Amino acid sequence: MITEQLINTARALVANNKGLLAMDESVGTCNKRFAALGIPQTVEMRRSYREMIVTTPGLGESISGAILFDETIRQQKTDGTPFIKVLLDGGIIPGIKVDMGSKPLAGFPGEKVTEGLDGLRARFADYSAMGARFAKWRAVMAIGSGIPSRGCIEANAHALARYAAICQEAGLVPIVEPEVLMDGAHSLQQCLAATKEVLYTVFDQLYKQHVSLEGMLLKPNMILPGLAAKVQDPENVVAESTVKFLLGAVPAAVPGIAFLSGGQSAELASARLDQMNKQYKAVLPWTLTFSFGRALQQPALEIWRGNNSNIFEAQEALYHRANCNRAACMGNYNN
Ligand code: 13P
Repeated sequence: MITEQLINTARALVANNKGLLAMDESVGTCNKRFAALGIPQTVEMRRSYREMIVTTPGLGESISGAILFDETIRQQKTDGTPFIKVLLDGGIIPGIKVDMGSKPLAGFPGEKVTEGLDGLRARFADYSAMGARFAKWRAVMAIGSGIPSRGCIEANAHALARYAAICQEAGLVPIVEPEVLMDGAHSLQQCLAATKEVLYTVFDQLYKQHVSLEGMLLKPNMILPGLAAKVQDPENVVAESTVKFLLGAVPAAVPGIAFLSGGQSAELASARLDQMNKQYKAVLPWTLTFSFGRALQQPALEIWRGNNSNIFEAQEALYHRANCNRAACMGNYNN
C-alpha cells in the first residue's frame, strides 16, 4: 500500500536541488577508511567522526537526507543529543542502511549477493520507531570476464525488490541501489551493457514484487569507464551516455535518481552530475541528484584525521562539497 506520506518523503528527498549524504559505512568499511589515514578504529572515534558530520553548520542547505548505519543511528553527541534529533533540527531527513552486506554467491565464483532479508520486517519497525523515514539496500556487481552473470543479477535484483516491498509496507521510502562497480579496466561501453542488464532486471523484479515506483528512489552508478581504463571519456560523453541510458530504463513514475559516487574523485563526481543537469535537466521526467558517500566525505575525513582541533576546517570542507553538489543539481558547478 502506497501512502501519501511515502510519496511526499520520496519527493522531499530530491526537492530544491538538494541530495543525500551517505554516511552509512559499516564498521568494517569505516575502519578501513580510518586505517588508511592512521585514525584509531574505535567506537568512540567513529562516533566522534559522525558527530563532526551531523553538526556541520548549514549542512541542511544542500543535504535533504542522511543515510545512517545501525551503530550510528543509536549514537548521540557528546552532550547527549541523539544524532537523529540533530539531523531533524537541521532540516535533514534521517535514513538507515538495512542490508547486511554482500557475501559470496554460491555457485558463482567472484560474484556476490547482498544479505539481510530475514527478520527485516521487525528491524524496520525498530528503525521507524527511532525516526528513520527512508532506507537503503545496496547490491554490488563487478564487471569482468563473463560477469556480472545472469544468476548474480537475478539474485541481487530479487533481493532488492523484496527489500523495497517490505520497506514500503513499513512506511519508509526504499532507496534501491544496484551498483555496477568501477574497479577494472573495462570501457564505458562495457559499463553501459552491464548496467542495462542490471537495471532492466531490477525494474522487472520491482514490478513483480508490487513495489510502487512513486514511493521509491533509484541509486545507480553513472555510466563510466573503469578506474584503470586507458580511455577516460570526457564529462559530456559520460553525461550523455548516462542520461540517454536512464531515459530508456527508468520509468517516469520514479521521482528521483540519486547517483552513488563509487570511487570517483569528489570533483569528477560533481562535474559529471553538473553536465547531466546542465544539458538535460529541462527535459528529464525525474530529478537527477546525488547520494554520495566518499565524494562528499573524503576531503573532510582527510582534514579531520581523528583530531578534534581540525573539526572546524573539516566541516568547512564537507559544507563546501555539499554546496558544490547542490550547484551540480542546478548545472551551476564551477570548481
Ligand atoms: P559512495 O558514493 O562512496 O559510492 O557511497 C555511496 C553509498 O552509499 C554506497 O553504498
